Amino acid sequence: MTESMMIVNNLDELLYARRFLDRPLGLVPTMGYLHAGHISLIQQARQECNSVLVSIFVNPTQFGPNEDFTSYPRNTEGDLHLLEQAGVDLVWMPSPEVMYPPGYQTWVEVDNLTKPLEGSMRPGHFRGVTTVVAKLFNATRPDRAYFGQKDAQQAAVLRQMTRDLSYPLDIIVCPTLRETDGLAMSSRNTYLDAQQRQAAPVLYRALSAARADYEAGQRDAEGLRQKVKAVLAGEPQVSLQYISCADYDTLVELEQINARALLSLAAFVGKTRLIDNVVLG
Ligand code: PAF
Repeated sequence: MTESMMIVNNLDELLYARRFLDRPLGLVPTMGYLHAGHISLIQQARQECNSVLVSIFVNPTQFGPNEDFTSYPRNTEGDLHLLEQAGVDLVWMPSPEVMYPPGYQTWVEVDNLTKPLEGSMRPGHFRGVTTVVAKLFNATRPDRAYFGQKDAQQAAVLRQMTRDLSYPLDIIVCPTLRETDGLAMSSRNTYLDAQQRQAAPVLYRALSAARADYEAGQRDAEGLRQKVKAVLAGEPQVSLQYISCADYDTLVELEQINARALLSLAAFVGKTRLIDNVVLG
């Protein structure tokens, strides 16, 4: 751990600063507007690594044309304060020009795993994620990289990319942090008005009700999907986009659950799109 937190913006500064970091080095990639979920990733990295590097970059290439790139919440000053308190060694905050200089034309794409779920609803999203994370890995060369289970498909896609491109690092997936009423922590929760915020925990209640059925012996995947739909139907502010019960590793939709499965959903609460999931087995 270094004595005070270093903050760098361009690649040369990053490469220079990185030389002062002890190994193993943990990377926590973020898009900023940090909340307790991010801090829990940093704390886990702090426990497992001798240095911790956090990147803050709202990555334009993972947002679709009708998505919230320009309105995505930002709070650099608040973020840096939290990172300093969390004992982070180095913060990298590149500009879009540093990450995607004029003439940029190289992309990293994972194939089958990016097709269902978020990939089917957000065309091009994962191409943006894998490209930026590959660039973060190349520039920072971490030994471990930390991601949240809330973005379960993102974690699966990044695990696949790491394997396929032979990155010499471990992907660590940390549990979803929740508010006391069960709502998964997300920077996008800030878009919810008071009524929507009150309605939003129904997402986790619905997933938990289906998980309770699974724990009571239900192995019919469609039965679990229907359970989630039934609970959500009682909340008029929520409009379900998809509910999936899929194999945990391949994300292929299941009929019967015989191994670890991922029950995941995306839903609009008002105009805000939220995702959540629970693991079965
Ligand atoms: O999960 C996120 O915040 C982003 O997708 C990530 C991994 C930082 C890439 O921009």
